[in-house]
Amino acid sequence: MDKDNHMLKILEGFRSQCEEAYKLSRKIKVKGSFKNAVVCGMGGSGIAGHLIKAFEKKIPIYVHNDYGVPDVVNNKSLVIVISYSGNTEETLSAYSEAKKKKAKIVSITSGGNLAEKDKDALIVPPDLPPRAAMGYLFISALVAMARAKIISDQDTAIREAVKGLVSKTCSREGFMLAKKMNNKIPVFYGSEEMRGVVYRMKCQINENAKQPAFYNVFPEMDHNEINGFKKQGKKMISVFLMNNKDNIAVKKRMDITKRLIKEQTNTAEIQVKGKNHLAKMLRTIYVGDFASYYLSLMNKEDPTPVPLISKLKERLKR
Ligand code: F6R
Repeated sequence: MDKDNHMLKILEGFRSQCEEAYKLSRKIKVKGSFKNAVVCGMGGSGIAGHLIKAFEKKIPIYVHNDYGVPDVVNNKSLVIVISYSGNTEETLSAYSEAKKKKAKIVSITSGGNLAEKDKDALIVPPDLPPRAAMGYLFISALVAMARAKIISDQDTAIREAVKGLVSKTCSREGFMLAKKMNNKIPVFYGSEEMRGVVYRMKCQINENAKQPAFYNVFPEMDHNEINGFKKQGKKMISVFLMNNKDNIAVKKRMDITKRLIKEQTNTAEIQVKGKNHLAKMLRTIYVGDFASYYLSLMNKEDPTPVPLISKLKERLKR
């Protein structure tokens, strides 16, 4: 078990992590005019790209969770390469390919091979599980995008968002959600703008609570998944992210969908709160992170280690 409450301590420090990330990211300087941008990274590092996709952008932004880089990359591309350990093979391959294609690269890492290869990498503090360093990685990448003028300036949004990361209230909301999810398989639903957030919530349940979890978004789920609860649905719980800023058509769909599936499955809601979109995303992630932590305790699992991810990485080296 998480004897020294390692993960809990990290979670309680999330607000300071985001504040520190914002200070650190002042070092990022990205000059140039770009035709497209790509965020490369896997798992807990790659999530930053999915979150950035939700921002209004001036040029196309691609998220790449694979080896190499997408075909669109050339000397007019900004490629943000994120690997917390600095040793993830897919991400290192992305770095090499982006370099070959003469793209402008911003690397974000705590060390490892990526820091060796890119002497200009932004170095974030080490010794965290990568997924628990999301504040460092995502805020740095977001600031890099803003500095490159691909998204609008985020300084005010970040300062406001950080204020909403109140550990006590988010922990309480996370605990309540964990109680509802206990002994069930959660599926997280939100609008397209919340895609990165529901994906993060699913991954945190997988890695921290060591159990299955899924996600999908509206309106797509209304065209397939809505019909899939009649059999086995009682083993699951659909968690809806309710955001009063969502498109009115999406809100209507969510309400009707919830009512239609209620007989066949369990449902729960999370109210998305925050002064701006970033604040909403970060606060909801924070509640989800706490929920995954409490669910790990209910599952009698240590939230911190990810033995199968580690074993797989070891075997790939042989
Ligand atoms: C572990 C975790 C993983 C890693 C992934 C990539 O906490 O979250 O999803 O993030 O295996 O490794 P890094 O982030 O070191 O590039």
